[in-house]
Formats: sequence, structure tokens, C-alpha cells
Amino acid sequence: MAQATSFPKDKIKVLLLENIHSSARDLFREDGFIVEEVHGALDYDALLKQVADAHIIGIRSKTQLTEEVLAAAKRLLCVGCFCIGTNQVDLQAANVRGIPVFNAPFSNTRSVAELVLAEIVMLARQLGDCVRQLHQGQWIKSATGRHEIRGKTLGVIGYGHIGSQVGVLAEAFGMRVLYYDIAKKLPMGNNRPVASLEALLTQSDFVTLHVPATSQTQGMIQAEHIAQMRPGSYLVNASRGSVVNLEALAEAIKSEHIAGAAIDVYPKEPKKNGEHFDSPLIGLPNVVLTPHIGGSTEEAQESIGVEVGSACLDFTNNGSTASAVNFPQAELPLRSDSHRILNAHKNVPGVMAEISRILGELNANIHAQHLVTDDATGYLITDLDKNVSEEVYRAISSLDTNIKTRILY
Ligand code: NAI
Repeated sequence: MAQATSFPKDKIKVLLLENIHSSARDLFREDGFIVEEVHGALDYDALLKQVADAHIIGIRSKTQLTEEVLAAAKRLLCVGCFCIGTNQVDLQAANVRGIPVFNAPFSNTRSVAELVLAEIVMLARQLGDCVRQLHQGQWIKSATGRHEIRGKTLGVIGYGHIGSQVGVLAEAFGMRVLYYDIAKKLPMGNNRPVASLEALLTQSDFVTLHVPATSQTQGMIQAEHIAQMRPGSYLVNASRGSVVNLEALAEAIKSEHIAGAAIDVYPKEPKKNGEHFDSPLIGLPNVVLTPHIGGSTEEAQESIGVEVGSACLDFTNNGSTASAVNFPQAELPLRSDSHRILNAHKNVPGVMAEISRILGELNANIHAQHLVTDDATGYLITDLDKNVSEEVYRAISSLDTNIKTRILY
């Protein structure tokens, strides 16, 4: 009887679109799943057809998982976005179908931190201009205005995953590191917090931004903040384009108050390669412009494959939704003495009373239970005696409020 409903792994089809890194494919295959890979994005009709028998769909930014596509994916258990953004998925439509969506918000943080360190050295040595001049056949050798970064002060705004790594790497270069964050953050090494943005701006030789895009950080660095920076200091932004007023920065570079800037993110970014790019910073001295490549490395792609692949595996194998972006988050350690029932239900009054009634009537002994809800959907994990699990599973699956129920053993 036990084999009747716990779905065999070699029947679970994982559809990976858009050249997702092979680390994800390997992870699924090693766990016994069937993996189908498609190199590019599919057109809409092909997508509707392909998703019909997929249990897990992996996408990057080009595939739109609309309500219609999700409805066509009748067997779908979860979606993996092998990237940061998730706005290509109708998250609410997935939620009400009991489908968690996972992404990889932190896999590329090291890549950004390394780029920032490289840029700090570039700015201190005016490397961007040097390289350009020599490519143009101009030999200009000078030490004037070129500096070591050892002993200089780096101010980090936003001391999260990236900011704190930048702080650690900068210290290895012999920099003194200050940081400003609205949340209380544990300092790494000898990094030190400061109490205000102004304190950070007035004390730093280099300022680097690592805040998220929020209403609070929108236009956070304006002319008045740049004026507070030390004369001859440098600004780095690899966070979000909405954070720095680039016109004000351009003016401060022209007036030589700011000695250079490295910018990776812009208020308006071209949608695809080859499209025209414009910025008030173009052509200014000691300005390093990069096309939003902070997180774009092979290593980051590989770790995105592992991070999102693991989240999908954890959900399929034990029901964990711990890092889902659209779904109540729950995680319970697996027990060897239990069967596990995973139930997504409509979040309406009376559901738990009904489920408790079923458990009572079937005399089910509960070993562990965890309920989490959001506005629309409730997610219940129940570990229970093996002898009644099948009946409990069937009874819960047949409730009107049931969205999706699975049994694991
Ligand atoms: P995180 O969430 O780990 O850290 C952000 C930190 O900023 C948090 O400690 C938070 O408390 C702090 N913060 C929020 N509002 C603030 C404010 N008003 N003032 C001061 N601190 C504030 O984020 P993570 O992973 O470090 O990413 C940081 C930024 O880097 C994000 O904007 C992200 O989108 C961007 N990013 C850019 C990439 C690129 O390719 N250039 C790649 C990856 C991330």
C-alpha cells in the first residue's frame, strides 16, 4: 500500500529552459529525477505544450509563466527561477494553485564584492583612463593623483550579504572599513559601524553602495550628499540604478570634487545587448562604467543552479518552502518513524477544524505539525503514524478547501 501514492522519483519530470547551468541538471539527475533541457526560451505555444507533464519548471528571465501557462501545467509542484528576479512569473496565480516559486537572491554576492574591490583599485590608479589611452596609441605615464588603497578609508552603505563581503576583502587590502546600515549588523573583522550616513560620507575616501531598491533608498545619494563626501574621494555603485542621482555625480566629477566613480547600475538600462546606452557620465575622466555585470560570472551561474535546484529538491522531497517568494514558508526536519502529508489549502475559516476532525476520526497519532498561512493560502505539514497515513491523505485531499495534497514516505 505504501507505494501507491508517494510519487516515484523516476516519474518526476524537471523541465529546464533557457540554458540553466548544468549544476542544476546534475543535482536533479543525481536524485533520480528525469531532466529535460531546452537551450533557449520556448515560444508561447511550445511552452504551453512542454509544461503539460512537467513537475518542476526551471526558468531564467525570458520565460513568462502567466496564469494560462500555470493552468496548463497540471502536474506542476514548484517553479525554480534560476536568477534574482521573479516578476516573469504570475506569483499569485502560482500561490493559489499551491505552487511555491524559488529564486536565488544571494548566489552572486561574491561576484559583486570582487568587482567592487577591483573597481576601487581601478579608481585609485585611474586604470580605466590608462587602458583607454594606450589602446588609442597614447603613452601617458604618471604617478600624479594615483594612489595605493592601503590605509585609506572605505565607507560601505548597506552592510548585508554584499556590503559585508566587500568590507572583509577591503580589510585584506589594508583599508579601514566603516559601514552604515539601517539595521543593526554584526561587524566582520575590524569593520566598524557609524551612526549616520553623514558620518560615513564625511570620513570615507571611497564610498560604495550596497542597499536594496526601496522607497527609502530611491534617490538616496543626491548633490547634497555628494557635497558631504571628502574632496578627491570616489563613489562606487553596484547596487541599484535608482539610488544615485547621476546628473549630480557628473557635476561633482566635472568640478573635481569627486575624483572618480565606478557605476554598474543605471536608472534606465537597455533591455538587450547591442541596444544604445546613454548616461551623463559618458566621457568623464576616471569614470568606470560597466553594463550591470556585478553578479555576472560563471561561478555565480553555477551557484544559482545549486541554490535554486536544492530549494526545488527540498520542496519535492520533504515539503520545505523555507525560501519560497510567493508561498507560506515552512520547514520541518524529516522523521524516520513517520509518513508526511503536505497540504496546501484555501485560507478560509474552519479548515483546521475539518482536518483535526479527520485526524481524530482516523485515530491518527501526530508526531509533528506545522501550519503557516498567507492571505490566500494555508500550508500544513503533518508527520503522523504510518498505519493511517494513506486514509488521512485521501480524506484531506477530498476536502473542498483542498488545493494540493501530497504524501511522502
Ligand atoms: P542584502 O539584503 O543582503 O543587504 C542590503 C543591506 O542594506 C541590508 O543590510 C539592509 O539593512 C541595508 N539597507 C536597506 N535600506 C538601507 C538604507 N536606507 N540605508 C542603509 N542601509 C540600508 O542585499 P545584498 O545581497 O547585499 O544586495 C545589495 C544590493 O546589490 C541590492 O540592491 C541588489 O539588488 C544589488 N545587486 C546587484 C548586482 C549587480 O549585478 N550589480 C548583483 C546582485 C545584487
